[in-house]
Amino acid sequence: MNFVYKGFILLFSLFPFIIGSELDYDGWLQIRLYHALNDNPVAHFTERGNITVSSIRNGVSSIAQAGLDPSQLTAMKTLANNGNKYRLKAVIRTSSGSETTFLTSVPACHLFGTELEDILTVWLDIAGEPISVSQVSPGPCMLNLPTTKMWTTSVQIRSPDAGPAPDTASYITKIENEKAARERGETKDNRSFLAKYWMYIVPALIFVVLTSAANPDAAAGGGGGGGQRQ
Ligand SMILES: *[C@@H]1O[C@H](CO)[C@@H](O)[C@H](O)[C@H]1NC(C)=O
Ligand SMILES: *[C@@H]1O[C@H](CO)[C@@H](O)[C@H](O)[C@H]1NC(C)=O
Repeated sequence: MNFVYKGFILLFSLFPFIIGSELDYDGWLQIRLYHALNDNPVAHFTERGNITVSSIRNGVSSIAQAGLDPSQLTAMKTLANNGNKYRLKAVIRTSSGSETTFLTSVPACHLFGTELEDILTVWLDIAGEPISVSQVSPGPCMLNLPTTKMWTTSVQIRSPDAGPAPDTASYITKIENEKAARERGETKDNRSFLAKYWMYIVPALIFVVLTSAANPDAAAGGGGGGGQRQ
């Protein structure tokens, strides 16, 4: 039961990725990344690298990024110490010829906490045009310099289904709530035995009635025989 439940959760967790491949056409994206390492409200962007997504349908991408030099690491250290954000600019050109600029940011200390690992998610609309870019660095906030100066970046392409986007997170919460309620016995089936099993009992009764009607002698003979032996 628990195994089935986990399989269910896994299936629904994979749902967004399945949807990601549901586009019925393909295209490419050319993404140029710039970052601002200055600790100032006015961002000063410098080049970080390029991402080529050769197929938005299956999310195949290649990344070329330069490592951080010591002065850039020092600048990021200042950002982290002051609790400020690393700012990223993504300029995306698409196979349809459009060019759009997006901004996203992440607390600098989280990039240190993951050794410069980040996840870039590009959200597309149903026409395959980019509508949002988000950078996530899923690590703890740390102030020590990373042991590497190279980025570890993964790129995800997300596109919506033609219908309304399924609310996977709340669906999983719903399953979990129901499971918890079952464990507490709240949804325990307290109907009577007959109310629960009538659909099995009725055919069995009909079967018994029909077989004895079709063979009345056997039924009567059996009863009579028992009587005679007494
Ligand atoms: C990114 O692409 C641009 C233009 O295509 C090129 O000038 C630049 O050198 C590339 N940068 C990297 C890090 O590959
Ligand atoms: C079963 O229990 C619920 C509450 O626990 C109650 O509302 C409901 O009337 C009960 N049903 C029967 C058939 O006893």
